[in-house]
Amino acid sequence: MNSPTNLDPAPLMQALSGLRVNAALVSALELRLCGHLAPGPCTTKELGARAGVSERGTQALLDVLVALGACEVDGGVYRNGPMAHAFLVPGRPGYLGDEEVAMFRAAFASWAELTTVARSGKPVHENDSPQMLEFWTSLTPAIGRRQRPLADEAVRWLGLGEGAPSLLDVGGGAALYSLALLRLNDRARATQLDWPHVNRIASEEVAKAGLSARFQMIDGDFRTTPPGGPYDVVVLSNIVHQESEASAHDLMKRLHDALRPGGRVLVSEFLVDDGRTGPAFPLMFNLNMLVNTSGGRSYERAHLARLYREAGFGDPTFQKVGPVSTLAVAARA
Ligand SMILES: C[S@@+](CC[C@H](N)C(=O)[O-])C[C@H]1O[C@@H](n2cnc3c(N)ncnc32)[C@H](O)[C@@H]1O
Repeated sequence: MNSPTNLDPAPLMQALSGLRVNAALVSALELRLCGHLAPGPCTTKELGARAGVSERGTQALLDVLVALGACEVDGGVYRNGPMAHAFLVPGRPGYLGDEEVAMFRAAFASWAELTTVARSGKPVHENDSPQMLEFWTSLTPAIGRRQRPLADEAVRWLGLGEGAPSLLDVGGGAALYSLALLRLNDRARATQLDWPHVNRIASEEVAKAGLSARFQMIDGDFRTTPPGGPYDVVVLSNIVHQESEASAHDLMKRLHDALRPGGRVLVSEFLVDDGRTGPAFPLMFNLNMLVNTSGGRSYERAHLARLYREAGFGDPTFQKVGPVSTLAVAARA
């Protein structure tokens, strides 16, 4: 075994300073620094005046943006680099600010409780608490931005361009799957089951796309609200991980009964490999579920396959999509 002097603590040190970078980026977004830089390069003094921020604060935040490669500096004059221009300027199509800021602010207090949560195994807030209900309004548009291409890929992977399929999206958020399907197939119909205030966000998205005539909503708690049906396909995208094994089992069973014979359940998840050796993202994401849910987790592939079988489905087929997600699909046996 290596002696401690041969080991490099750099990865751990970098992780320990992660909060600094995260907090700086959030403040830079809140203060719209890159937005104020967008009209033209300037000094910290000028930028501070444009943004209403102290020169000292402006300098410290710009230092981090330069360190991240988002902004550039030459002779004391700062400009947005390509990354800042694309992602950190409000109003740009790729802007990823406001919901990310809201999520950081909402999560911050919970992360401060992590040691206590780890000791007790109990989350800071329950799934239907006012804090979590508010959290979904920030999270769902943010996930929407990241995962829309994945939903498009998934409906094609399922072959839903043919016929007149009906789809139920459980906890559908910003209507990613409904929109993907309704755009792909003009004979398809989609239903979303989610909390009422989130369904309102979804219905606005669907209305903007001019597809409301083939979209329906069921307002309520998906753990107890009848899902309607029968459907050809049910989607659980980024949902199973927030449920305990018992609750995921109940949900899959109820959804099994809401499908036509031969109907399929599609799960999109951050799955960890069997034996929990990786990949890194789902291993770390498990911590979000510890803090924010009473029984959720990053499930292993074999574990998800068992949940399918126990609910009356055949063995799932898995397909890795995008950088962090895996699709799984199985038909009602
Ligand atoms: C992590 S987001 C996933 C959103 C969407 N499926 C996606 O992948 O983009 C979780 C979604 O489930 C909804 N949700 C969570 N718990 C719920 C419950 N008990 N009943 C109904 N909806 C719930 C939230 O409102 C949110 O839209």
